[in-house]
Amino acid sequence: MDEYQGKWALVTGASAGLGAEFARQLAARGCHVIVTARRQERLEALAAELQDQGVQTVIIPADLASPEAPGAIMAALRQKQISPDILVNSAGFGLTGEYTDRSWAEQGDFLQLMVTACAALAHHCLPGMRERGWGRVINVSSVAGLVPPSAGHTLYGASKAFLVSFTQSLAAETARDGIGCCVVCPGFTYTEFHDVNGTREALNRAMPDWMMLHADDVAAGTLKAADRGHTVHVPGWQYKTIVALARIMPLWLAEKIARAQQGRYRKT
Ligand SMILES: NC(=O)c1ccc[n+]([C@@H]2O[C@H](COP(=O)([O-])OP(=O)(O)OC[C@H]3O[C@@H](n4cnc5c(N)ncnc54)[C@H](OP(=O)(O)O)[C@@H]3O)[C@@H](O)[C@H]2O)c1
Repeated sequence: MDEYQGKWALVTGASAGLGAEFARQLAARGCHVIVTARRQERLEALAAELQDQGVQTVIIPADLASPEAPGAIMAALRQKQISPDILVNSAGFGLTGEYTDRSWAEQGDFLQLMVTACAALAHHCLPGMRERGWGRVINVSSVAGLVPPSAGHTLYGASKAFLVSFTQSLAAETARDGIGCCVVCPGFTYTEFHDVNGTREALNRAMPDWMMLHADDVAAGTLKAADRGHTVHVPGWQYKTIVALARIMPLWLAEKIARAQQGRYRKT
């Protein structure tokens, strides 16, 4: 029997893209799924699809840019006597522009969603996983968390680098408790991400198809990596190569290349 059978998975950003794909693949492995995001109709449609696979679902609409959201999600689950065995932090978006082009309110909300909400949900979920001696924390970072950043989208790379380091620490702390923590660092992936931040046209112009990843492959590869006890997963040979090169070349050269490339697909 699949060890995921009958477990409860909490998936953020489940109304689209990678989050929806993680929810589908976890349900296919027999997990009951709690789906959260802001768009309730999307969550309802996904929940109906997952119930057809014979699993239970819970829908919790929430805006994770609100500091109260993680606590409210956990309170709703406590009322139903559900304690998640698997947490997938996938909610996110790309905030275009240079740092001071955006108000601090926007930048602060971005950090709340991309950093604090992920850390808070893990903090809420880990004690239950520990008690039961089994768990998974999957954080969706980006290849941007592993390579030098360029101008624009200033907090994006920083927030994704946080998730890498955070997951590595958590993995070291929780391995003895039967909990696997894995951070996935995808490159460009076909989802709604680039439609939401208005970079689709630039991306289509600049990015050859072979550089694009598919959400179902990313989710499947990540779950496999987590099962194998891998802490950092970089999907796709293209991005494995980029990360490996960025790690062996001098930092000044990696920064120079990142700056030269940014105009091709970045909207600053
Ligand atoms: N696609 C890529 O090329 C790529 C590459 C590397 C990493 N990533 C990362 O992958 C993760 C998932 O992105 P995706 O590619 O799947 O994009 P997507 O298709 O646009 O999905 C983003 C999800 O995040 C949710 N979300 C956004 N803001 C939210 C908020 N304030 N509160 C709650 N939920 C919110 C959205 O739901 P609602 O709008 O309904 O709230 C949606 O479900 C992100 O963390 C992203 O940084 C993406």
